[in-house]
Amino acid sequence: MKGIILAGGSGTRLYPLTKSVSKQMLPVYDKPMIYYPLSALMLAGIREILIISTPRDLDRFEELLGNGHRLGLDIHYQVQDEPNGLAEAFLIGEEFIGDSPVALILGDNIFYGSNFGNLLADASNLTTGALVFGCYVKNPKAYGVIEVDDDLNPISIEEKPLHPKSTLAIPGLYFFDHQVVEIAKTVKPSERGEKEITSIINEYLHRGELKFELLGRGLAWFDTGTHESLLEASQFVETIQKRQGLYIACIEEIAFRRGYITKDQLLEVAEPLMKTDYGKYLVDVTKSRNEKIRDKGAFMSDSI
Ligand code: TTP
Repeated sequence: MKGIILAGGSGTRLYPLTKSVSKQMLPVYDKPMIYYPLSALMLAGIREILIISTPRDLDRFEELLGNGHRLGLDIHYQVQDEPNGLAEAFLIGEEFIGDSPVALILGDNIFYGSNFGNLLADASNLTTGALVFGCYVKNPKAYGVIEVDDDLNPISIEEKPLHPKSTLAIPGLYFFDHQVVEIAKTVKPSERGEKEITSIINEYLHRGELKFELLGRGLAWFDTGTHESLLEASQFVETIQKRQGLYIACIEEIAFRRGYITKDQLLEVAEPLMKTDYGKYLVDVTKSRNEKIRDKGAFMSDSI
């Protein structure tokens, strides 16, 4: 399975913060926002990753993450000229995707919760059809909304509906088989002028190939598109990290614990960060005496 992080967009709801900086480069507590979706793909076991961003911002992401080799990843970069919608990711990424199934995660989506890593690892085994998730939200009108029957089979999907049929929003993390590219080619822009991901998901639904998984109370999902939600996400990360002493979305730690890099490579990555708690934490990770317990701790809660 390959992975795409869609980290473009205009970020107008965060002006003036995002007038000259990508939203996905803004800090969520102690690290750039893009670390969070990247860590989700890493937890899913996905190591071949395409980052899509604007002509203005793409170079900055490449400066931050490079080719990914220091994390045992292979990171590619491609431009989205205009924010024409999420479905465009599959047209831009056509060559990158090839015949592989692919996960798409939005650059401003943050997930944290018990067992999330296992859930992602299962999802990444998908070879046919599509898989989307559902999270309960108070304001479904702002999201793609999914209606499901009593057995949690999907019935309908609507983008930002005026009269939502449920309070289940589809978060910005989707798994598709290779058909997604051909389906994306048939998507026409919506009334608001965007190629909607919901059009793709609807096509899988009509084909009877859409799977659904409910993300219940044990999982926290944030999209960080407004000042309020950005601050809330930062406060959440600070609270968990201070309390547990385990980091959320520490990509270097995940690379080490997942076996993508060795202890020596982790120490090398930590070296320029030693003036920060983050760098010291990485060194602690290599030293943890009871690695089994710490590993279990990190992956039971699936700190991403
Ligand atoms: P949105 O929050 O819908 O849009 P935005 O980031 O442009 O923000 P605003 O509404 O404040 O103007 O985008 C969700 C995520 O998807 C976000 O991470 C940006 C990304 N995105 C793209 O990369 N390309 C696109 O064409 C769109 C619509 C979004």
